[in-house]
Amino acid sequence: MERLQGIRACVFDAYGTLFDVHAPMRKLAPEIGEKAEEISKLWRQKQLEYSWLRSLMGVHADFWHVTGEALDYALEQHGVDEPGLKDEIMALYLKLDAYPEVVEALEAVKARSKLTAILSNGSPAMLDAAVRHAGLEKLFNMVLSVEDVGIYKPSRRVYRHAMQKLQIHDAPSICFVSANTWDAQGAAQFGFQSVRVDRFGLKDDRIPGKPAAMIKDLSALAALV
Ligand code: LAC
Repeated sequence: MERLQGIRACVFDAYGTLFDVHAPMRKLAPEIGEKAEEISKLWRQKQLEYSWLRSLMGVHADFWHVTGEALDYALEQHGVDEPGLKDEIMALYLKLDAYPEVVEALEAVKARSKLTAILSNGSPAMLDAAVRHAGLEKLFNMVLSVEDVGIYKPSRRVYRHAMQKLQIHDAPSICFVSANTWDAQGAAQFGFQSVRVDRFGLKDDRIPGKPAAMIKDLSALAALV
C-alpha cells in the first residue's frame, strides 16, 4: 500500500478502533446466556443512533448518559431485567480491553515522529478510564472528547476541534483512523486522510467521504504514515 503523504499527526477513534466494545457482554455471557451477543450489537447500534439523533435534535447529553440509555433499551428489548446487571455492564465499559495490537502499533507510529491523539464521542471520564486501564497514557499526546464541542461525530465541528487542538491548519496533514465506517468516511469528507480499520468486514457506507486506505488492524498503520 502506498504511504500517505505529508502526515503530521494520527488521530484515532476510540470505541471499536482501540477498545473492544463487545468485551463486556462477552465477559458476562455466562450470566446473560446466548442473547449476550445480540444484546451487545443492539446496544452499540442504539448508542450510535442516539448520539446522532441527539445531535440532530439539538439535545446533547454526554456519551456515558447515551450509553446507559442505549443499554436500557437493548436489555428491555431482549426482556432482560436482572437487578444490578446494568451497573455491572456499565462498570465494565470503563475497563474495556484494548485490541491486542494497539500498544505496539501506537509505538510504531510514535517512532515515526507523528503526533498522536484520540478524538472520541466518549466523555473525558470514560476516555480517561479506558486509556488508563489499557495502559495507553504515554502513547497519546492528547485525548480529545466531543464534550468540548457539544455535538457528536461525524459533525465537522468535531473534526475541526482536533485541528485546533493539535494546531494543525491543513486537514490533509492529519491521518484519521477509525474502524467505524461512518466515522472514517465523515473524517475523509471533512478533509483528513482517513484510514479505515476493517475489523468487522463491512462495506463502506453509502454516504459521502472515501477513506484513503483500508487496513485489517492497526499493525499496518505505521507503514502508511
Ligand atoms: C468513538 C465512538 C464513536 O470513540 O466509537 O467516538
